Amino acid sequence: MNPPSSLPFWCVVPAAGVGSRMRADRPKQYLTLSGRTILEHTLARLLAQPGLQRVVVSLSPDDPYWPHVAQAADERVWTAPGGKERADSVLSALDRLVAAGVDEHAWVLVHDAARPNLAPEDLARLLATLADDPVGGLLAGPSRDTLKLIGPDGRVVQTLDRAAIWQAYTPQMFRLGLLRTALSDALAAGAQMTDEASAMERLGYSPRLVEGRTDNIKVTRPEDLEWLQRAWGDPL
Ligand code: CTP
Ligand code: MG
Repeated sequence: MNPPSSLPFWCVVPAAGVGSRMRADRPKQYLTLSGRTILEHTLARLLAQPGLQRVVVSLSPDDPYWPHVAQAADERVWTAPGGKERADSVLSALDRLVAAGVDEHAWVLVHDAARPNLAPEDLARLLATLADDPVGGLLAGPSRDTLKLIGPDGRVVQTLDRAAIWQAYTPQMFRLGLLRTALSDALAAGAQMTDEASAMERLGYSPRLVEGRTDNIKVTRPEDLEWLQRAWGDPL
């Protein structure tokens, strides 16, 4: 039984990275897709979802592009100072929510600035599926390719069972208080983590995977942006 689609939720959008693998003249979230920046598309998708309370965008302290972002003037959009790693940037945004008095049980969705192709139906399904979940979870998709475990000599050690390995996307949806504890614990312990779910896993929680579209890609390398431009019908 699906809850109403207007489940209240908050968003955190880490956008303080430099985008080194894109090798562009600016951080990738400020590159253009169909006439708007990637970050503008990402924010527009989140702001269009019923139930959205506030979005906190983590920004590099010396970011000169943010004031030109269309949604910078939206009263539902707040900012927080980004940090050294993605997890630092996310934690800073969570601190902003706590400082504003948001309830520790509130649902927070963390979504990469560099994922502008989030389907509205996937966002709605994530919210509906996890509304009453004791832990939370994330959008994910089964791997398309055959997966190989590689050894130090660059040769195959083993072929992995593709059906049992899923790729983690964002949004990742957890309760504010627990996620904040998980991230600060992991950072204090110097643990390696590239997403929120792994911080929760460290504490013994088992996040739920909600299948989403595989075109919810994170723009990471130049060919990713070219792929999206083609998919969106941009002249190349
Ligand atoms: N991010 C962030 N703060 C950091 C590092 C990353 O807010 N210190 C954000 C990025 O802006 C991006 C998301 O986290 O929206 C995912 O990270 P990633 O794809 O690794 O982006 P970058 O770190 O910018 O890229 P790269 O690793 O190629 O330098
Ligand atoms: Mg990075």
